[in-house]
Amino acid sequence: MLLGVNIDHVATLRNARGGVEPDVIKAAEICEENGGTSITTHLREDRRHIKDQDVRTLIKTIKTKLNLEMAMARDIQNIALEIKPHSICLVPEKRQEITTEGGLDVAGQTERVSAFIKPILDAGIIVSLFIDPDEDQVQASAKTGAQFIEMHTGTYSEAFGTDREEEEFLKLKNAAGLAQSLGLKVNAGHGLNYENVLRMHEIPGLYELNIGHSIISRAVFTGLAGAVREMARLIK
Ligand code: PXP
Repeated sequence: MLLGVNIDHVATLRNARGGVEPDVIKAAEICEENGGTSITTHLREDRRHIKDQDVRTLIKTIKTKLNLEMAMARDIQNIALEIKPHSICLVPEKRQEITTEGGLDVAGQTERVSAFIKPILDAGIIVSLFIDPDEDQVQASAKTGAQFIEMHTGTYSEAFGTDREEEEFLKLKNAAGLAQSLGLKVNAGHGLNYENVLRMHEIPGLYELNIGHSIISRAVFTGLAGAVREMARLIK
């Protein structure tokens, strides 16, 4: 299983001050040097974290693969076609949400999704659809031409450690099996952390996990001691 690291939260921290620190390009480099097999960024319509310039620079500096999360918006499609990331992941997007809520409804708009991704596929960019682990959504995704689905693991992550865990886990396992039987490759992500990620090994054939929040959160604590020590040394 591969690890795509989502670096959006590095940009969130940077934008809190409006300057250049922490540098998202440097963050991507560190992720790649330490086992990240791709870098994921979500270019949101409101540009609340990753900005156009970040994506334009990342595509030149990344040594692994750039996976661009994006909504079905024409201007973002144009940017994808211009910069040509390795892959895009189509997500639903609501302006007021804090993070992506739920998967894309592919079953309810299969033709629209197919038409939207066609020029992206024609440009040689791999397409993944971020969907809930639901049979109808998987069946519909297989009809669009996309090569991948990314299963939304948010509900499983919330249920982890409760009496709903098994039920939510089985939805992921069954959806992955169905998708693979229909010729789709399967990624997963959202809400995965250092505990709930281990069960992903029980799902045969999962290709890549996209993980952001738990990694950046962990990095704050693993890096804080050294950062304070260095400042204390300079001030002493
Ligand atoms: N995959 C997709 C499609 C997402 O939208 C997100 C959140 O941006 C993630 C994975 C990563 O989720 P998390 O930050 O909870 O690890």
